[in-house]
Amino acid sequence: MTPFLELKDVHKSYFLHGKRIDVLRGVSLTIEKGELVSLIGSSGSGKSTFLHVMGTLDAAASGTLRFEGRDVFAMNDAELAELRNQTFGFVFQSHFLLPEFTAAENVAMPGLIRRQDRKACDLRARELLDRVGLLARADHRPGELSGGESQRVALARALMLKPALLLADEPTGNLDPATGEGIHQLLREVNRDLGVTAVVVTHNETLARLMPRRLRISEGRVVTAEG
Ligand SMILES: Nc1ncnc2c1ncn2[C@@H]1O[C@H](COP(=O)(O)OP(=O)(O)OP(=O)(O)O)[C@@H](O)[C@H]1O
Ligand SMILES: [Mg+2]
Repeated sequence: MTPFLELKDVHKSYFLHGKRIDVLRGVSLTIEKGELVSLIGSSGSGKSTFLHVMGTLDAAASGTLRFEGRDVFAMNDAELAELRNQTFGFVFQSHFLLPEFTAAENVAMPGLIRRQDRKACDLRARELLDRVGLLARADHRPGELSGGESQRVALARALMLKPALLLADEPTGNLDPATGEGIHQLLREVNRDLGVTAVVVTHNETLARLMPRRLRISEGRVVTAEG
């Protein structure tokens, strides 16, 4: 069977001030549809880089990346845009909410951009905000939210279009333990109930341990996390 996601010998380096930084040094990995995967690794080990490469946000990586059998690194801009917009959901390490819009509008935005019905978008946005425990903040702008609340809004936004693949970069980074546990619970529900395949970067080993599959990035490679 064709794997959902397949990386083969993926390398990614940055060039800065005449120096080369080899971040991914031969990542090979298969993720099947419906998997819920955590990714841990020390700061600077390449977790965000890995997610950006998988999400096609960072070009110029070498090796092979296949999504449902399609060669992603060979896609043209239009195909990549479609993949990013229709199939992937992102929660970035810094949340990138639009400051002039409310939480509900930010969550609804991916639907509005695709010209879905405004009322239906607002309804779904509020449902998602309810799931992340923020219905009472639906009409706040990002400047009127705490860091952790913004992160939860970003997660709700990533789920707006029911993505096939959710890539989340430390969605619990700014949260207290109880709220962080709530977000992990939500990720498990989203995985189980909506069948969303998810890769979740976390620094929290306790929460990582709750994920069915655990990966660690170390010395530019991705391996199964021990312990
Ligand atoms: N645009 C860039 N140009 C040059 N170097 C970069 C760039 N982005 C990241 N790096 C370097 O690549 C390495 C991996 O960065 P990355 O952001 O993937 O780490 P990370 O594992 O996500 O870390 P953290 O846990 O702190 O978020 C780091 O050493 C970083 O300094
Ligand atoms: Mg990072």
